[in-house]
Amino acid sequence: MFLFTDLTEADRPELSAMVERCSPASRQARFLSCAPQAGPDHVATLFRDPDSHTVVVRGLGTGIIGFGSLFLDGTAPAELALLVEDAYQGQGIGRLLFDALRDHARSAGVTELEMTALTGNTRMIKLFRSARFRPTDSGTVTGVLSVAA
Ligand SMILES: CC(C)(COP(=O)(O)OP(=O)(O)OC[C@H]1O[C@@H](n2cnc3c(N)ncnc32)[C@H](O)[C@@H]1OP(=O)(O)O)[C@@H](O)C(=O)NCCC(=O)NCCS
Repeated sequence: MFLFTDLTEADRPELSAMVERCSPASRQARFLSCAPQAGPDHVATLFRDPDSHTVVVRGLGTGIIGFGSLFLDGTAPAELALLVEDAYQGQGIGRLLFDALRDHARSAGVTELEMTALTGNTRMIKLFRSARFRPTDSGTVTGVLSVAA
């Protein structure tokens, strides 16, 4: 049993604590950065960006255990991103968050959504596939060069 609500100012401490509890791998998958400030900076953005819409999820007797955000800045496609706390991943919460945000996007008149996943992010890629996302060429190429002596 999970409870989904729109983000309010009162959620700020719980949301920050949840991001802190997530593993570095989950935070990197969500914020696409391993910088320690990436999570706190992003949480701060959610509270000041008028174009973002965030849904938080709580379990029975738990604080916030996940959240999903839509960025509706008028450009197409709108961006959608999710983070579920490690201990609660794989229980269908990501899917439910996705469905709630897709419905919100539709009612806001959005016609296209975009999500970004790191290669190897099986759950996110399964979500992509089952929701019928079409892969796009991001236009970037990433490589690693060893400069060890
Ligand atoms: C990606 C993420 C949001 C998915 O949420 P979740 O609650 O863990 O995932 P769900 O339980 O809803 O499952 C999503 C899909 O993965 C599948 N899945 C779940 N557990 C799995 C596992 N152990 N192995 C393989 N597939 C699995 C589900 O069947 C589901 O597929 P479906 O949509 O075809 O039914 C979550 O794992 C997460 O926060 N990861 C770290 C941050 C991140 O990667 N964010 C995405 C980039 S913005």
